[in-house]
Amino acid sequence: MHQRGVTVWFTGLSGAGKTTISRAVEQELRTRRRLVEILDGDVVRQNLTKGLGFSKEDRDENIRRIGFVAHLLTRNGVIVLVSAISPYREIRQQVRDRIGDFIEVYVNAPLEVCEQRDVKGLYKKARAGEIKQFTGIDDPYEAPLKPEVVCRTDLETEVESAAKVLRTLEEFGYL
Ligand code: PPS
Ligand code: MG
Repeated sequence: MHQRGVTVWFTGLSGAGKTTISRAVEQELRTRRRLVEILDGDVVRQNLTKGLGFSKEDRDENIRRIGFVAHLLTRNGVIVLVSAISPYREIRQQVRDRIGDFIEVYVNAPLEVCEQRDVKGLYKKARAGEIKQFTGIDDPYEAPLKPEVVCRTDLETEVESAAKVLRTLEEFGYL
């Protein structure tokens, strides 16, 4: 059976819920017997983009490489779930234009909430100056202007957020 591939790109601050929502979506897609791959910034930075840091240049290179792989998979019918902060609008737009079949999900929780959660203790370190160039603290985050989906993870549950993404995939004819 032919299946349309698509890249679902989760962007948002550290701790906003990108990884969590993408995993929930992955689970549902597997249940539906779809081909699915996850490209998560945290994981990709241990292999594909190992050695890159968090300067604008390195982040853009990280996103470019993730986008390259996402494109290959997408054109072969895979649903690719990318979760990366991807703080810069311009490179996100470039990747979108390259891939074509592209759904942008803005995983939006206020900085205060992400910092309160501080799942990995990174905000604390950033505030203490132990980590430099931390997104939202001393490094920029450019929010999407027209994302296909917005998940307010401080106001909705993980299940609700995942359902929004799946509904959008249906609306656009990918499911
Ligand atoms: S980017 O900007 O898209 O290239 O970042 P990404 O590949 O998603 O990597 C983000 C994860 O790296 C950890 N981390 C940092 N994030 C932001 N800024 C700085 N300086 C930083 N240093 C390390 C952090 O665990 C991010 O993971 P998430 O899942 O977003 O919390
Ligand atoms: Mg994550």
